Amino acid sequence: MFEEVNKIMEIRKATIADLKDIQGLCSLLCEKEHNEYDGLMDLDWAFSEKGEKYLMEAITKTTDYVFVAVDDGKIVGYLSGGIVTGEGYRNLPKMADLANFFILEDYRSKGLGRMFYESAVSWAKENDAKRLRVEVSPGNDKGVNFYKKMGFEEFTLTLERELE
Ligand SMILES: CC(C)(COP(=O)(O)OP(=O)(O)OC[C@H]1O[C@@H](n2cnc3c(N)ncnc32)[C@H](O)[C@@H]1OP(=O)(O)O)[C@@H](O)C(=O)NCCC(=O)NCCS
Repeated sequence: MFEEVNKIMEIRKATIADLKDIQGLCSLLCEKEHNEYDGLMDLDWAFSEKGEKYLMEAITKTTDYVFVAVDDGKIVGYLSGGIVTGEGYRNLPKMADLANFFILEDYRSKGLGRMFYESAVSWAKENDAKRLRVEVSPGNDKGVNFYKKMGFEEFTLTLERELE
């Protein structure tokens, strides 16, 4: 299966021509997060002015990256991230993050996530990063397990509550 995926899939850097397709996938990611983990997630963000600007900058800025997976001309997943500044009170080396990660359901659990992850690691190393960060909803078992398999360890748990 993994070999099959390797044969048909291409992972490449995104270009501005991919923007609309990436917004479509980002919208599905927001919908999943909204429905499963975070009711405050803005379902219109991906196609909003702010969302479009964020994704366009992620594609074009040299301090950010967006990778896409292409199957027969169709974009079936994307991973974005970039160089990030960590907490000033920690002795952190240069750090990169995985910010948005979404693969269409039919293409999951076939090794594509690992291929994306390895592309991000290569990008981060080329950009002199020595550490990687990702934030994930604690209820996203599949996501959390995936990142743990890739070698990430839990670092912080953010808690929030409503005020009357
Ligand atoms: C999280 C996500 C990016 C992982 O990508 P993926 O392509 O499913 O990941 P992989 O296939 O590389 O690995 C996932 C599982 O498939 C297994 N796998 C890898 N290659 C496989 C193969 N050839 N055949 C069967 N299983 C395989 C892995 O061992 C892993 O198993 P596990 O879930 O039991 O630990 C993807 O599931 C996704 O887009 N989820 C929805 C969005 C999301 O939650 N994003 C992350 C938070 S922002």
